[in-house]
Amino acid sequence: MDENILEMRSITKTFPGVKALSDVSLAVRRGDVHAICGENGAGKSTLMKVLSGVYPAGSYDGEIVFDGQVCRFSGIRDSEHAGIAIIHQELALVPFLSIAENIFLGNERRGRAGLIDWNKANAEAAELLASVGLAENPLTPVGQLGVGKQQLVEIAKALSKDVKLLILDEPTAALNDTDSAHLLSLLRRLQQRGITSIMISHKLNEITAIADHTTVIRDGQTVETLDMSQPGVDQDRIIRGMVGRDLESYYPERESHPGEEVLRVEDWTVKHPSQDRLVVDHASFTVRAGEVVGIAGLMGAGRTELAMSIFGRSYGRDISGRIFMHGREVKARTVSEAIDRGIAYATEDRKKYGLNLIEDIRRNVSAAALGKLSRRGWVNGNEETRVAEDSRRDMNIKAPSVSSIVGKLSGGNQQKVVLSKWLFTDPEVLILDEPTRGIDVGAKYEIYTIINKLVAAGKAVVVISSELPELLGICDRIYTLSAGRITGELPVREATQESLMVLMTKEKELAA
Ligand SMILES: Nc1ncnc2c1ncn2[C@@H]1O[C@H](COP(=O)(O)OP(=O)(O)OP(=O)(O)O)[C@@H](O)[C@H]1O
Ligand SMILES: [Mg+2]
Repeated sequence: MDENILEMRSITKTFPGVKALSDVSLAVRRGDVHAICGENGAGKSTLMKVLSGVYPAGSYDGEIVFDGQVCRFSGIRDSEHAGIAIIHQELALVPFLSIAENIFLGNERRGRAGLIDWNKANAEAAELLASVGLAENPLTPVGQLGVGKQQLVEIAKALSKDVKLLILDEPTAALNDTDSAHLLSLLRRLQQRGITSIMISHKLNEITAIADHTTVIRDGQTVETLDMSQPGVDQDRIIRGMVGRDLESYYPERESHPGEEVLRVEDWTVKHPSQDRLVVDHASFTVRAGEVVGIAGLMGAGRTELAMSIFGRSYGRDISGRIFMHGREVKARTVSEAIDRGIAYATEDRKKYGLNLIEDIRRNVSAAALGKLSRRGWVNGNEETRVAEDSRRDMNIKAPSVSSIVGKLSGGNQQKVVLSKWLFTDPEVLILDEPTRGIDVGAKYEIYTIINKLVAAGKAVVVISSELPELLGICDRIYTLSAGRITGELPVREATQESLMVLMTKEKELAA
């Protein structure tokens, strides 16, 4: 048997106006966990889509040899048949179908007479769930599971197909630390069963923890493949490969001079839209001008729900409590009222709420503040283009032009478009929900720099993040949220990951 299970040779892939991959080669050893790193838009997802037949043979140049065979996949079915499974950056489960239905979708368990044998399917699903460590009923609709669990269902689905090579495109981007750790240990267990995996990730600590080899891609070209067991191969070494230089620090310096209070929220209480329970429970907090305030909490603590309900009641029902801007109570009953009052919310879920994927960059950037570009109902197209061009330059959005369709940008670049959109509303308070999810280290630094510029201009910024080091790196003050309640407030100089964790899990312990 070959030592390499996979060799991709001289792969070149172009899209109209973009050379996404140029002569890229990748060799993956049998049984390895092989990481792929690179800045946003480097070509990582594209390379994996070429491998898995999403882009069929003939649409790219180069050669793929998998498990000793030259492969010319004409679609994803072919690659699955060969033993390759890909879990995309955007999960692809059907929310209203059950776990078992999702696992066997397109690969149904048929009994005699060709009917689907659901007893068999459910029993098999239960076994697969056990093998990925997910304690859920196979009949549960997938939409009721959090992202971490959906991820595990995707892997169970891959295992149902006798996978030899599992490809995960940013599997932990949307996961909290516990779920991420769980996923990584699952990859190790699969490795012991002889399954090779390729993992794309921006979380370099996870890569150094789990990968045997790491290939770095920059601007559509392979830079190098690092043997992670070699001395000196650490996060900084990977970063040097990714950005071509050393990164002096992860967080830009900022002098903090908080001023007057800008936003005050009092006794904010929100009910779940369909269940009889409180998702946000008498939460109160303040944000001052020139201040970055963090909100830390575990998955399900109600962070996003808190933010969205404040942002024009775009989440929940029976909302009570008061919002003050500059000391005066304001009503923000709709999103447009919230925007008018100077509140903006940049969503964590860019696909669902943040962007219109079939429109271009220009339309997306202007969408939340069209009024600023219009006169008598007419949008000034030149102005709109100029504004979008400014954003593209300032945010360093990687796209051929502002008329590029947003759905075709790489994940990280889509995130930058979301930020541009809300910055253009010129808010007094900007609430950022997981602003650097799926963003490469260099671009993270750029986003922190943008946050610093905003607060230097007297704006108030609220950051919701699952990455505690990020909150500790950029905030002045951090609130912790647990089960919908504010359980603590710490100035950043007094906060540590440990002290935050204690507060983030407070309610749970009381309930237990
Ligand atoms: N379907 C498409 N049509 C046109 N251009 C595309 C398409 N898919 C990707 N691109 C472009 O190809 C380049 C590589 O994109 P890709 O999604 O592979 O990046 P990535 O390394 O996965 O980035 P990220 O870390 O942000 O996910 C980008 O410039 C992107 O805009
Ligand atoms: Mg990608």
